Amino acid sequence: MSVTVIEGSQWGDEGKGKITDYLASQSDIVVRFQGGNNAGHTICFNGKRFALRSLPSGIFNSNITNVIADGVVLNPFSLKEEIEGIKSSGITDFKLLISNRCHLIMPYHLDLDGAYENLLSDKKIGTTKKGIGPCYVDKAARRGIRAGDLLEKDFLKEKLKDTLKVKNLELRSLGLKEYDLEDLYNKLIEIGDYLKKYIADSQYFLINALEENKNILFEGAQGMMLDIDRGTYPYVTSSSPSSNYVSQGAGIPPQAINRVVAICKAYTTRVGEGPFPTELHNEIGDLIREKGHEYGTVTKRPRRVGYLDLVVVKRNLKMSGASEIALMLFDVLENIDHLKICINYELDGKIIDYVPASLNEYSRCKPIYKEFKKFSFSDKIHSFNELPIEAKEYISFIEEFTGVKVKILSIGSDRNATLVR
Ligand code: IMP
Repeated sequence: MSVTVIEGSQWGDEGKGKITDYLASQSDIVVRFQGGNNAGHTICFNGKRFALRSLPSGIFNSNITNVIADGVVLNPFSLKEEIEGIKSSGITDFKLLISNRCHLIMPYHLDLDGAYENLLSDKKIGTTKKGIGPCYVDKAARRGIRAGDLLEKDFLKEKLKDTLKVKNLELRSLGLKEYDLEDLYNKLIEIGDYLKKYIADSQYFLINALEENKNILFEGAQGMMLDIDRGTYPYVTSSSPSSNYVSQGAGIPPQAINRVVAICKAYTTRVGEGPFPTELHNEIGDLIREKGHEYGTVTKRPRRVGYLDLVVVKRNLKMSGASEIALMLFDVLENIDHLKICINYELDGKIIDYVPASLNEYSRCKPIYKEFKKFSFSDKIHSFNELPIEAKEYISFIEEFTGVKVKILSIGSDRNATLVR
């Protein structure tokens, strides 16, 4: 039995989709355990490209059960669009299970996400405006609507009535349109009828699956620097994308996890606002952005680009118990002179080796770099051994510094451009 977690070790967009796709094919069950449709990865199937947002990556394989677990926030209307999208491409034979405990992103969450960002103006978080934060707010405030509520019509109406009292007050105070109970209720009933065949107790399902020794893959969205507790708060998402949260978000014991694959880009990117010590504002940054196609999957925003920051990666690998690294987009770094990796920060004249909790301190951190030699290699190589010595040095340094082995190396977008050790 293998219970594997895939997690992003930086600020998201590390290329998790490619590895998830690869590992999903060896799994019986693929599970999303946090976040929502702020995630986005593209999967190529039968020559077509599909942008998945909330659907787990095993959806194209009829033998895999795909689970949207308790810790996810789910926009039921956009999920319907996603499902219809894959159905219209002829994929009708899929297995999907939506937790009856997962919270629903409601239309007013989208309005509030946008309004709060506007209020913050130049201090905005730079959210994806998918309503993620406002939905988790209502979950914590104990007035959220859960997927299971869609199946209990009278209860849903009562709950929605109470919730709307608060939400309409909030919307009114922000000068936004209020929601009509009957109208929203009818829309929820309609979407509930559409989704009801997928809604079940996913926690119960997963516990049984563990007992049956199934191979389970937990796919994290975003990255650990966007973690609500340990990221660059408040410039974070509202969930925890690491292996640390799998147990809570899916309802399985932590010791069931036996493999944690940390996905790490060979350089660093981030979208949205917030400190980023190794950010490059020069032609090397522009070159990496263009070569790496560093534009948001969900928002299309150009990503901020910088050198690899191993202070960040090491902290996140240690925190989450990563057992191996998948190093992504390595080919993007080919032919770059004076390539650098950040190994420490300088904070007010002191050398530090950790990520400060204070955003002010983190903004003052200056990267201390180790320089590496330029490298290039053919896209036809099939093993680590065929890499030039300069490329091997870059990889070995990551391993020595973090204490975690690079087991997978991606040297191109093609599925085959993946070296496995
Ligand atoms: P939210 O998750 O939409 O609330 O956005 C909060 C922060 O997380 C913003 O900086 C977003 O750009 C960032 N974020 C959310 N999802 C992703 C992702 O999938 N990749 C990278 N950044 C993300």
